[in-house]
Amino acid sequence: PAATKSTEDLIPEVLQALDKTDQISSSDVFPAVPFETMKATLDRLTSRSMTTYEQVEREEAVLEPEAETIVSLGSHEARVFNEVHKAMEGLSIKDLETAIGDKTVTKMGQGKAFKEKWIKKDGDKLVALTDSITDTTRDQLRVIQETKTHEPKIITDLKKRKLLRLQKTFSFRISKGEKFALEMIKEETDLTAEMLASGSWKTATFKPYNFEALGADQHAGALHPLGKVRGEFRQIFFEMGFKEMPTSQFVESGFWNFDTLFVPQQHPARDLQDTFYISDPKTADRPGPEDENDKRNYQEYFENVREVHEKGKYGSIGYRYPWAEDESLRLVLRTHTTSTSASMLYKLASESRDGRSPPVRYFSIDRVFRNESVDATHLCEFHQVEGVIGDYGLTLGGLMEFMQIFFDKMGVKNLKFKPAYNPYTEPSMEIFSFHEGLGKLIEIGNSGMFRPEMLEAMGLPSDYKVYGFGLSLERPTMIKYGISNIRELLGHGVNLNVIEKSAAVRLDKD
Ligand code: PHE
Repeated sequence: PAATKSTEDLIPEVLQALDKTDQISSSDVFPAVPFETMKATLDRLTSRSMTTYEQVEREEAVLEPEAETIVSLGSHEARVFNEVHKAMEGLSIKDLETAIGDKTVTKMGQGKAFKEKWIKKDGDKLVALTDSITDTTRDQLRVIQETKTHEPKIITDLKKRKLLRLQKTFSFRISKGEKFALEMIKEETDLTAEMLASGSWKTATFKPYNFEALGADQHAGALHPLGKVRGEFRQIFFEMGFKEMPTSQFVESGFWNFDTLFVPQQHPARDLQDTFYISDPKTADRPGPEDENDKRNYQEYFENVREVHEKGKYGSIGYRYPWAEDESLRLVLRTHTTSTSASMLYKLASESRDGRSPPVRYFSIDRVFRNESVDATHLCEFHQVEGVIGDYGLTLGGLMEFMQIFFDKMGVKNLKFKPAYNPYTEPSMEIFSFHEGLGKLIEIGNSGMFRPEMLEAMGLPSDYKVYGFGLSLERPTMIKYGISNIRELLGHGVNLNVIEKSAAVRLDKD
């Protein structure tokens, strides 16, 4: 049957049909071939210039079941007339009903046949008034069954009588192409040495490249959405002149995670409820040289930190509590990457010539850990995006301007700044942005200017200022991908298909 014909079957048939005439319509010649098969066939032929085609949209009239019955048995009135005409002596209504076998048809047909003056009543019988009639409705429907159309007036009328409905169809008007032939041209896909040697390449037909073909799925590895957003952040940092900090050290001493940052040892952030402490080993050595080239005076730095906490220094009155070295040496899973920023700044201070540190821009994006309750948007670990800018003469206004430029690069505009508190920055600001989708201001980052208690203890000059800021990588990722539960992004519940199919991101194009 035509419906199961393949492209291979159809190709010679199309060519044969076109050989006899210049143009054919697929709906006339191949009425039963499905649209897709027809199109695939014509695309193959047309790509070889053997045919050209145009797609034609048409409205077709399709007969309703009742109309099909009329085509095979005649209209109601014609059936009534035929029965009455057959009975030479006339027919009672009851006998007519039995002959036709359908009450409605009998009733409706009678009415019409009277009106057409085909029959009349004679006593209690019906008699024919003529010997032949024209069954117009049946004739019209027959034409439509064959051609799918008729004069507009007739179509409208029959549609009103619910004998047909209109349906859109697509077909093809097919013409001969430049290279029309009855046989499919053999197309070469490769230029071979033999073809060059024999000279057959001169007359060969080469298959054109199909630049529209989709490549086969390579089932290659896929980047995690967090990795994609991370890549975008890195790009922005690099383009703004930042250097990446080494953040592979997940375990830090309290000294680098808290004390160097002027976080007092009684600070709630240092509680077991907020911080994961390492049980084996429990403590770190005192900070000391990393290798034989490291000539830094760690002892002096350690004492500076102790002093600034205990008694105050560099114009600060300190916290005035007995600072415990043991507490400082407890090992923790780092709660922020600001510990790395601190160690980088200490390195900068101790390596600077004449005590004049050069301007720097550092960033990192890596994992941090917090002993917090887990919910739909928080896990015990997340990725922190951290930035540090050091220079002379920096002001708070400069930090606000920088944040505006930085977030603008991700398409985040109209920032709002709210005064905040961090032990290591003064002033500190939380950064908010209006989220169109959520219809509210959401916090997107934390920032501030590092305190002299932190910087001067490291040996940085007092007019050297440092901006710091941090944000989570998860939050912008969840917003970008419209994910509301963090478990869809991280952990064993993640759907790998979703990860594989996740679209690329451009932070600046939203
Ligand atoms: N460490 C801060 C946080 O975890 C971020 C921050 C970094 C704030 C540097 C100010 C300066 O939220």
